[in-house]
Amino acid sequence: MKLVGLGITVLSYAVYWVVTWAISWRKSCQLAKASGFPYIALPLYPYTRFWMATCGLWLPIIRKLLPTSMTDDWIDMIYDDSLWLEGFAPHEKLKSDTYILAAPGRSILITADPAVITQIAARRSHFPKPLAQYTALDVFGKNVVTTEAHDWRRHRKLTSPPFTEKNNRLVWQESIYQAAAMLTSWVGKDGKGNQTIQNAHSDTMKQTLHVISRAIFNVRCLWPGVNDNDEKAIAEGAMNTSMVPEGHKMSYVDSMNILLHRIIPIIVFPSWFMKYSPWGYLRETQLAYTEWGKYLESMYQKKKKERIASEKGDWGLDVMGAMIDGSGLIPGTPNYGKADAGLSESEILGNAFVFALAGHETSANTLFHVLLFLALNPWCQKHLQEELDNIFQGRPISEWDYDNDLNPLFGGYVGAVMNETLRLIPPVIGIPKTVLEDVGQPLTLNGKVHILPRNLYIVLSATTAHRNPKYWPNGPPRNPKRPAHPKSNVDNDMEEFKPERWILDPSAVPIKDNDDATVESEDLGVNTNPDTANTLFRPTRGAYIPFSEGFRSCLGRRFAQVEILATMAVIFQKYSVELAVDEWASDAEVERMLAGGEQGRKELGDVWWKAKEHGEDLIIKEMKTILTIQLRKGKIPLRFVRRGEEKFGFIS
Ligand code: HEM
Ligand SMILES: *[C@@H]1O[C@H](CO)[C@@H](O)[C@H](O)[C@H]1NC(C)=O
Ligand SMILES: *[C@@H]1O[C@H](CO)[C@@H](O)[C@H](O)[C@H]1NC(C)=O
Ligand SMILES: *[C@@H]1O[C@H](CO)[C@@H](O)[C@H](O)[C@H]1NC(C)=O
Repeated sequence: MKLVGLGITVLSYAVYWVVTWAISWRKSCQLAKASGFPYIALPLYPYTRFWMATCGLWLPIIRKLLPTSMTDDWIDMIYDDSLWLEGFAPHEKLKSDTYILAAPGRSILITADPAVITQIAARRSHFPKPLAQYTALDVFGKNVVTTEAHDWRRHRKLTSPPFTEKNNRLVWQESIYQAAAMLTSWVGKDGKGNQTIQNAHSDTMKQTLHVISRAIFNVRCLWPGVNDNDEKAIAEGAMNTSMVPEGHKMSYVDSMNILLHRIIPIIVFPSWFMKYSPWGYLRETQLAYTEWGKYLESMYQKKKKERIASEKGDWGLDVMGAMIDGSGLIPGTPNYGKADAGLSESEILGNAFVFALAGHETSANTLFHVLLFLALNPWCQKHLQEELDNIFQGRPISEWDYDNDLNPLFGGYVGAVMNETLRLIPPVIGIPKTVLEDVGQPLTLNGKVHILPRNLYIVLSATTAHRNPKYWPNGPPRNPKRPAHPKSNVDNDMEEFKPERWILDPSAVPIKDNDDATVESEDLGVNTNPDTANTLFRPTRGAYIPFSEGFRSCLGRRFAQVEILATMAVIFQKYSVELAVDEWASDAEVERMLAGGEQGRKELGDVWWKAKEHGEDLIIKEMKTILTIQLRKGKIPLRFVRRGEEKFGFIS
């Protein structure tokens, strides 16, 4: 009897659950339909931490159990990395730049339409960020990335002062110093190069961590094995970031890197659990967290002492110093005694962490992707180097000058390579927003009103906006038989790396800008100026959003651009990057082919094209987002060789 009772209880629960699910799903579909945008019905809302972490397990089972006719419409849209894998294909299929994924409980709007993107970014009180999703960035305290409305203004006001044109000069100098060290680590102190670098990404991570450390804490980091003996820097208080200093159990660099890669366990598990867990992985993660906290804390205490001891508050490029100045925690400073104007100690630490994070992985990925794209497209590298020769005329880096050299880098082919890299792989592929929880929002497009349902999740889809052929100069694919992407934009070249796209063809029809969005500027460091002159292609507002758009766009845009351009210039003035082909041919075989005349070259070309296809395949299939998008599986090894000593220079 008891068993039957239990059976009935379980059954009625199941029925109740299924009915609720069906009603909720139907309602979402109705609302999606009413919005006037095309939609795809998804049986579940995919953007939960549980689903994102485990969908790789379920989806193959679902594919096995259900006939394709039942899953065909939606199954590709429900992966953790669908946005990347599908590219522009769903927009093509639905013939719309904006579509909705209608799911039980909550739906998702995905847009690659510049007008929609601009409007949503401009109406920040109607379309706030989904703050619940940002808890990972709150682990040390609330900050400028994880707040909204009033709080956000306060954070932004107190963190933006160092982001001035004056300080970009310091970004330039530090980037050059660190890039020279990184290059030396690749090519050796003798400068010979020609050794396989398995994971250049870990080096670009170090490079940008060093630059951002200078910017947040005003601390110069020494490149291990290269600058260990830079007496001058050491005398000026430089930090040995690979050393474990007294009072610490982990080095600065290790704790930051571990923290960045394992942010998910930190928010999922309580700290006591991690600390005493039987898994070394979790214990190490917890240690990294407490260690980085200690580094933050000691920087903070040091700066605070300095501030109390001195009168002036010009911190240059020193976000921590500027925050302490504005915090209101120190008598005699402007915000002292004013409630609601300053920052608490935990907010200062929270911001310092989020700057280290926001300003580090994004730029590092971009630099790495620049290396990849240039290795995969050597003809572009050649063009880039000719441009560098024109700009620098062989001057050594000690004679480079921010005022004269930055603009030509920015406004020519070097800038186009950076732009094109960020077009194809924007580190944040989808910028999340929401519709307010309690009330729907109208969106007016070409005179037509679309009602977006309350609590809708919105993705400003950088990756597809950047591939939207309506808004970009494009042509036929390089090889129609082997499109750059299996599904997305197969009949044009939007998926291909072509920096030339950015250099304006005078015969092209200009694409109209939509200037209906107004952006507040005042003193919040919101940069509304276009980057450069009009001889270059300027995307429609909202069509190119690697740094987001509107109020909540990237505070470090200019910072990142200066850093990336300076680093590129240091590397490519004297060196070339090439695909390492070790997997397909040994050095001896390569030498033999190089010496083997026409036939040898053909063989070598075949080897290279194999390496290229392998690399491009990985980029399409194995990029995944954890905070930012990165190659998460497989390696694309590289070599750096002196210019003129390239092995694959003949390929075109
Ligand atoms: C290539 C490099 C970079 C890219 C692609 C990038 C991209 C972005 C994007 C897409 C956002 C909006 C995020 C969102 O809405 O959740 C953002 C915000 C932000 N970024 Fe960057 N970023 C880069 C480098 C930097 C650097 C170097 C810094 C600091 C030095 C920085 C500081 C920030 C800050 C503080 C915000 C939050 C702004 C706010 O909400 O008011 N970023 N960035
Ligand atoms: C470097 O280049 C030389 C000749 O150009 C070659 O013999 C040598 O094996 C190459 N590889 C490494 C890793 O040094
Ligand atoms: C920095 O630390 C590493 C590792 O402890 C050490 O090998 C190196 O010599 C140190 N450099 C300086 C300048 O102290
Ligand atoms: C890079 O992109 C910006 C838009 O963010 C554009 O204004 C600029 O002209 C581009 N630069 C080059 C060199 O194409």
